[in-house]
Amino acid sequence: MKITVESKSGRRAFYCGAKETILNAGLRQGVNLPYECATGSCGTCRARVISGDVEVRWKDAPGGKKLKPEKGDVLMCQTRACSDCVLRVPSEISTRDENRPALRRGVIRNIRKLTSDVVHFDLHLSDPMDFEAGQFVVLETDELSGGRAYSMVNFDRAAARIAFVLKRKPSGGFSDWLFTRENVDLPVEVFGPLGRSIFRPEEGKNIVCIAGGSGIAGMMSILEHATRADHFSKYKGAVFFGVRTLADAFYLEALSGYVAASRGNLEVTIALSDETATTPAHPDHPSLKLASGMVHEVAARAIEDRYCNMIAYVAGPPIMVDGAIRALIVGGVPTLDIRYDKFS
Ligand SMILES: Cc1cc2nc3c(=O)[nH]c(=O)nc-3n(C[C@H](O)[C@H](O)[C@H](O)COP(=O)(O)OP(=O)(O)OC[C@H]3O[C@@H](n4cnc5c(N)ncnc54)[C@H](O)[C@@H]3O)c2cc1C
Ligand code: FES
Repeated sequence: MKITVESKSGRRAFYCGAKETILNAGLRQGVNLPYECATGSCGTCRARVISGDVEVRWKDAPGGKKLKPEKGDVLMCQTRACSDCVLRVPSEISTRDENRPALRRGVIRNIRKLTSDVVHFDLHLSDPMDFEAGQFVVLETDELSGGRAYSMVNFDRAAARIAFVLKRKPSGGFSDWLFTRENVDLPVEVFGPLGRSIFRPEEGKNIVCIAGGSGIAGMMSILEHATRADHFSKYKGAVFFGVRTLADAFYLEALSGYVAASRGNLEVTIALSDETATTPAHPDHPSLKLASGMVHEVAARAIEDRYCNMIAYVAGPPIMVDGAIRALIVGGVPTLDIRYDKFS
């Protein structure tokens, strides 16, 4: 099917297969359609169907609450084309050639518990994938309807294995599916890489990472890339990792390793929201600081006077991400220097 998308920046056309969403079809052909979550929760990919027939996969997607379906409004990440279509989007769209997302097959292996409700898992890909630190993929299994977004934890070029961390969501379809599996090979479809909350050392900036729970995933990839690129020999880094209690924190050895490699230029603070920090540093990992309070408030206090030449990365539950963005803006950080992923 031929899809034509009209926008403030002109018309772009691309082809869409019967089984893919309009968003995925455009992105894999280099058309930068608007999106954030790619999984139906944020509403950023909204478009109006001007002509043609479409099929909406997930009619109750939370991102579609403000749409007017009677006027042809759809979420492109939840919509398939049934004929040639013309759509209109409210924003500008551009094109790009490098690092386009693609559909691959993968096998989930090595599921291991990090805390009572967090697991690590590896994904072995059918074809290697290049991605930027901070990006994510959408995973889909035949056993559930719909895709789920997970951020890469590691950082490698032409990666054949990617690592993830998953926080169990109460009654969550995918998290229940993964938590209750035996450690056998689990086949999935993988679409990516996706996401614009990217770290590039060549931007030459100090970095601040504010993560709630599994929001630390993309920050680990950023820290790995920054450490390998020797970024902390010239620039400062501050990571704020929010968890409920000390027992909920994970990746502490890896975080201590990044602090040690930074020669004093990277600070990591674990912020405890439901417990008082009784020591200034982690008892078993003394290079990691401890603080009490919500992670975005702890971060705002700590970096009050350090907002210079900085890019901020924020990821985690939407309420926490909104709080962190507000605190950063109040602190004078330009919105263009704030990159975020809402884990909704
Ligand atoms: C950019 C991004 C990166 C993320 N990275 C991580 C991460 O690294 N680690 C982590 O733990 N979490 C991450 N999340 C959050 C994670 O994607 C959600 O917690 C996950 O979708 C929960 O899935 P679930 O099946 O367990 O829960 P459910 O409540 O069953 O499903 C939630 C999501 O599944 C999809 N869905 C549900 N039902 C349907 C349906 N009928 N049809 C189509 N789709 C459906 C939708 O995407 C929905 O938003 C990320 C989220 C985003 C947006
Ligand atoms: S990108 Fe489609 S709802 Fe978020």
